[in-house]
Amino acid sequence: MVRLRCTLAAIALALTAHPVLAADKLKVGAVFALSGGQSTYGEESINGLDLALSNLAKTDPALAAKISVIREDEKSNPVDAATAVKKVLNVDQVDIVFGTVASSNTLAMVAAAVAAGKPLVTPASTNPEVTKKSPLVFRTCFIDPFQGSVLADFALHNLSKKKAAILLDHKSDYSMGLAQYFEEAFKAGGGEIVANEAYEAGKKDFKTQLTKIRARRPDVLLVPGYYQEVGLIMKQARQMGFQVTMLGGDGWDSPTLFELAGAEAAKDHYFSSHFAPDDKDPAVQKFVSDYKARFGKQPGAMASLGYDGILIIADAFKRAGTNSAPALQKALAETVNFRGVSGTTTINAQHDAVKDIVVLKTGSTGATFAAKIGVATGKKSH
Ligand code: PHE
Repeated sequence: MVRLRCTLAAIALALTAHPVLAADKLKVGAVFALSGGQSTYGEESINGLDLALSNLAKTDPALAAKISVIREDEKSNPVDAATAVKKVLNVDQVDIVFGTVASSNTLAMVAAAVAAGKPLVTPASTNPEVTKKSPLVFRTCFIDPFQGSVLADFALHNLSKKKAAILLDHKSDYSMGLAQYFEEAFKAGGGEIVANEAYEAGKKDFKTQLTKIRARRPDVLLVPGYYQEVGLIMKQARQMGFQVTMLGGDGWDSPTLFELAGAEAAKDHYFSSHFAPDDKDPAVQKFVSDYKARFGKQPGAMASLGYDGILIIADAFKRAGTNSAPALQKALAETVNFRGVSGTTTINAQHDAVKDIVVLKTGSTGATFAAKIGVATGKKSH
């Protein structure tokens, strides 16, 4: 008994000397589109996150045990995104926000994170404005000026197309930005923009815009949108007998695009993204097989970004040694050559990631690797 009492006293002392501080734990608020028109992005992000934390529990169990995640649905729109981020910050008191995908939704979340003094890391929002709002904001993906210039270069040099049309979503920061950066680079490279048309997410009929575009005879059509609308645009273009090679960005990256377009209309277009599931890199192939075994489907770009993003946060937390916002901010900013499944990530002075980009070619049910373009060296390997 005396012995037990002594032991208990020793434990009590040890606890006071080295209390298990709340600062030793990291509470992550994962805000993603779990419903609505962008929900495959959210589903893949969360699957990637779950897989990453399961793997971390094997490779670094002590670190994994300190990390907890609260999920919240931003419902694929900026208004609900702002509400969701306030909930995780103010009610759950998270130490860091992880999310979201669509740039307009992330832009709507930044103010609350900054007001709470907490870092926000988006794995996927590529519009340059996102990280300009505050040094507390980071992204673990490339930005749209790079994505737009790669697409312009691909159209001009790989496809030898000189006349492009653009069909964009004029309410989406991502779509507007990507169109602008493409246009600048395409013109600078000697190309011409022959038509510029707009739509709004949620609309289902694009035939008016497609009719106007067809009349201008473009030899390539840039559709810098998200999969719901792009899938229907492909389908309707085909129904009209309008055969044109389409180009797009990472917003196309969803299995739903192929379902909506249908096998014939989906084929032979190109989009830039963060990841190709048929990449030969052994780390990518291991990720693809682990993901398939657990979720019964092939991972897309968002799965790879969700996976890498949470591991980059975990790595920064480990180096920071605490959940305090300034320490996390400093450690995130010092991320160098983090090897993930979506490439190797280095965070630059603007808190953007410097990473390679992949171009994929669409088939009837999915897309395959077409080219990889390096940003770090400026080397274009296609
Ligand atoms: N980059 C897109 C945006 O900023 C989001 C996105 C990323 C979509 C990756 C799909 C895959 O809005």
